[in-house]
Amino acid sequence: MSEPTAAPKKRIFSAIQPTGVFTLGNYIGAIRNWHKLQDDFDSIYCIADLHAITVLQEPAELRKNTMRAFALMLACGIDPKRSITFVQSQNPHHAELSWVLSCSTMFGELSRMTQFKDKSARHADNINAGLFTYPVLMAADILAYNADLVPIGADQKQHLELARNIAQRFNQRYGETFTVPDGYFPEQGARLMSLQDPTKKMSKSDENANACVYILDDKDTILRKFKRAVTDSDTEVCYKEGKDGINNLMTIYGAVTGKTMDEITAEFAGQGYGPFKEAVGEAVADHLAPVQAEYARLIADKAYLTQCMTEGAGQAFRITRKALQKVYRRVGFIDRL
Ligand code: TRP
Repeated sequence: MSEPTAAPKKRIFSAIQPTGVFTLGNYIGAIRNWHKLQDDFDSIYCIADLHAITVLQEPAELRKNTMRAFALMLACGIDPKRSITFVQSQNPHHAELSWVLSCSTMFGELSRMTQFKDKSARHADNINAGLFTYPVLMAADILAYNADLVPIGADQKQHLELARNIAQRFNQRYGETFTVPDGYFPEQGARLMSLQDPTKKMSKSDENANACVYILDDKDTILRKFKRAVTDSDTEVCYKEGKDGINNLMTIYGAVTGKTMDEITAEFAGQGYGPFKEAVGEAVADHLAPVQAEYARLIADKAYLTQCMTEGAGQAFRITRKALQKVYRRVGFIDRL
């Protein structure tokens, strides 16, 4: 009797830049979901340090931040035994493939990328070619692994669409080579907004330190930031259009407690905003405490982190080597013996 063969798992790829400490937004909107996906998918997660140097980085800081981001990724529950976890620059194939794909990407396409326009406005003194071709590198990240699904935030949708176009164009020109990836938007992929201006995304580059909660903020800091969160002149805790501040706090509270909007409304009925904000702060601090403890343990163990990175890069390299070989043949390069 033959064993029933399980359908192969779909492959998921995602990456995050090692610029500064992750925010609560990164955690709830992205990394926490990566964690949940690792059993159902063949999952590959990467710290995108090549992407980070499109804006100026202090080298020692970048090195430290990459180590920290890697530790934080593991502390958030990404398990190097169940997922491939690595640092982008440690697998040279990303940069190699990026070059080939850049020759299947049009100048006009890249010029339309809204993130390029935003970033070049913000870093007017450093509009380098890497900032412009950044989406090609991101396409290479994804296509090198023939990923089926890519969990991303709304701000990366345009880049993913470009990756799909590049894959399709390459396939048409050279024959079927790449899987055309789809975006993956988990139900609980809540998008968190700034605590100071809830019409804007919570961003680690915000100038106002109170706008953003970092995963490694201590309890007092978390409580203080929520206490100061901008709300409205109403008093009722309910999810409604126009109540951006309260909607955001309810989203956060729901994300860390698992409660629905109706349950939250009932819980704080007649209490006003003060006790609600305090409860959100407490719940977030409680939720982050185990992640913070695990981070503290990991960051003190550089040898272990280095070992995980090295093994992850090796696994990644073995996957992308095959993809690269195929691409090089397709475009007409002589085999590297
Ligand atoms: N550009 C993404 C960001 O800034 C990070 C990233 C790099 C990424 N390569 C990727 C995300 C590949 C998904 C897939 O958020």
